[in-house]
Amino acid sequence: MNKKVTKCLFPAAGYGTRFLPATKAIPKEMLPVLTKPLLQYGVEEAQSAGITTMAIVTGRGKRAIEDHFDRSYELENQINGTSKEQLMFGIREIIETCTFSYTRQVEMKGLGHAILTGETLVGNEPFAVVLADDLCDNADGDAVLSQMLEVYEKYQCSVVAVEEIPMQDTNKYGVIAGEVMTDSLVRVENMVEKPEPKDAPSNLAIIGRYILTPDIFDILRETKPGKGGEIQITDALLEQAKQGKVIAYKFKGKRFDCGSVDGFVEATNYFYEEK
Ligand code: UTP
Repeated sequence: MNKKVTKCLFPAAGYGTRFLPATKAIPKEMLPVLTKPLLQYGVEEAQSAGITTMAIVTGRGKRAIEDHFDRSYELENQINGTSKEQLMFGIREIIETCTFSYTRQVEMKGLGHAILTGETLVGNEPFAVVLADDLCDNADGDAVLSQMLEVYEKYQCSVVAVEEIPMQDTNKYGVIAGEVMTDSLVRVENMVEKPEPKDAPSNLAIIGRYILTPDIFDILRETKPGKGGEIQITDALLEQAKQGKVIAYKFKGKRFDCGSVDGFVEATNYFYEEK
């Protein structure tokens, strides 16, 4: 099997409780860093990696996402020909070049379950996953997803992006360990969801970028609820890892945890300085 990755899945059904009350009626993925919603950054990253088919797992109260990636004739009529028109060029180009499909996760049973819900949009192909609340930027070169696709093309197995984190933070992440292949690649042998520092196998944390092979769906169907009573993608990936089929990639660039207030503020300052 040497299939190309043509689709990107965006699980975006979570409640975003850390951002209440902002996320009471607005999806977390629509919160803007400067003038662009988090999800648009994610879509742009996928697009820059050559992906134009966007598959989004939404939930109740997330309709703003569909409206964002669609024309808005009234608004466009109002601003066409004015100086504001250029503010819409980016999103307009996305709408013209990408296709969007949606499915709803009816019960929020965790990230693994959200990815399984996306099977109907992805089908039997390898696919990328972007968690839009992890905002990535690589000012010096290829976007994180593009870097990961290169790894996928070489090894033809699942790839997870990892970052070294302070040991005291391991209980916020999926943490991996395995055989070091190169400076930036580890063949994953073990992974644990949100371990306490004393139980963590390393300080290499999985961030919100994955390339997954489609056998993950069959594994997810059998995966029992794990940490926090949720169906965890980490548990399903461990099954692939036991067969030597998961590579962790230490990406080049910056990542902001925009699911937390601190990370969100940091990202806002960073992009403001970059602008
Ligand atoms: P998080 O745990 O960071 O998101 O899930 P959350 O649950 O929305 O946030 P808090 O902790 O309550 O503040 C990581 C990603 O997985 C998606 C989320 O939308 C987010 O992109 N997710 C999570 C789902 O799509 N469905 C779920 O059942 C859980």
